[in-house]
Amino acid sequence: MKQIKIGIFGLGRGASFIDNILACNGDIVAICDKDEELLAKRQERLPDAAAYTNFDEFIEHEGLEAVFLANYFHEHAPFAVKALEKNIHVISECTPAGTMGDAVALVRAAEKSKAIYMLAENYPFMKFNQEMRRVYQGGSLGKVLFAEGEYNHPIWSDWISDLCPDSKHWRYHMPRVYYITHSLAPLCYITGSMPKKVTAFPVSYPHTKESCHSELYWRLPDRSAIVSCYNDDGSVFRVTGWAQFGAHDNTYRICGTEGQIENVRGDTERIMLRYNDYAAPEGMGEVNTYYPEWKLEDKELAEKAGHGGGDFFVIKEFFDCIRSGKRPMFDVYFGVTLSAVAILAHKSALEYGTVYDVPDFRREEDRVKYENDFDTPMWGSDGKAPTIPNTDLPEYIPTEESLAEYDAAMARHLAKQQNK
Ligand SMILES: NC(=O)c1ccc[n+]([C@@H]2O[C@H](COP(=O)([O-])OP(=O)(O)OC[C@H]3O[C@@H](n4cnc5c(N)ncnc54)[C@H](O)[C@@H]3O)[C@@H](O)[C@H]2O)c1
Repeated sequence: MKQIKIGIFGLGRGASFIDNILACNGDIVAICDKDEELLAKRQERLPDAAAYTNFDEFIEHEGLEAVFLANYFHEHAPFAVKALEKNIHVISECTPAGTMGDAVALVRAAEKSKAIYMLAENYPFMKFNQEMRRVYQGGSLGKVLFAEGEYNHPIWSDWISDLCPDSKHWRYHMPRVYYITHSLAPLCYITGSMPKKVTAFPVSYPHTKESCHSELYWRLPDRSAIVSCYNDDGSVFRVTGWAQFGAHDNTYRICGTEGQIENVRGDTERIMLRYNDYAAPEGMGEVNTYYPEWKLEDKELAEKAGHGGGDFFVIKEFFDCIRSGKRPMFDVYFGVTLSAVAILAHKSALEYGTVYDVPDFRREEDRVKYENDFDTPMWGSDGKAPTIPNTDLPEYIPTEESLAEYDAAMARHLAKQQNK
């Protein structure tokens, strides 16, 4: 099996792929992060990899064939474009593009490039989602009419200093609906349906000191949304972004004309497959529950990998595509469509439900409409301020004062940690 020379850009989340890359016969020849302390720490694990703090120098690394992008959430596209222009294969963490203009630039660059672009969306590859795809694609549930996907991931204080180190970090400002791929991509993967129109209502919970668990936690407001997508096959999906209501779970339900399949809330690994009495296939009951198993040679590697095996499968799929020349399922059109759903859903939520058409990124007429739209609710790492609000609640639009308060609280938190 051909070894693939790959570099990792962004060594927080990026480092969690080291084992999966090596297991899939990747050769990590270069790593890059502007945080020199983190870079040095990762070099201890990868002493043979060249270390860079600058992306432009990193992609000049001799023999580099592919890059894994795990830098700031909303800034992947410009770096993906640079790599694609050099015909370097790109696998990019979610989300592919932080603005509609970035999505257009990314799809144009991918079309011109000889290299492969793939979104590293891992949730579809979780065991229960692969099982739901197998059953749905088998046809016994008929045609999908409705499906729902929830990525419900409340966070707590101990994590915050790592996850959101300062008041201009993307996690502080991101409308939770921007993180849509974990709820939406599994539904698209299972059914093959893709969104054409989108509308959303905000779910904004005004955190107060009294309602939360720590000084830092209450300063990260919740800004989820409930998003409805009307799809290219007439079905409707209802999804969340990175929601923080209720209890932690990621669950999916597909309703077809003949029955439904879901993973069970509170017992996520368990599948519940139900048929209407007239539609149950030979040998199946009306209600069937079970824990699916991998039927794979690579079962052990998948079991060890993060995110229910998903982190292994994204690397495996990316390398298979490079080696065979096949197009990834989560290609650039798939990726930018999901980004567009997120961005337009946020716009819709700010307007309490305006319906937006999701552009068809294969059509230049649709692309030109958005090529100059760089509106963003997040700070750029170059210091550019947000151009649109990140919440519908005016009292939670961050002010200079509230940002400074967060930074002061973080400094107190870190000092406390150090003195422990
Ligand atoms: N799919 C998943 O399950 C999953 C899980 C966690 C994170 N993620 C995604 O992975 C990405 C990274 O997440 P994270 O938690 O590590 O983010 P982070 O913001 O904590 O870290 C980003 C890293 O990139 C580096 N960086 C950013 N811009 C740079 C530049 N121009 N030059 C050099 N280094 C630069 C930063 O120094 C930092 O170390 C995000 O897109 C996130 O959404 C996905």
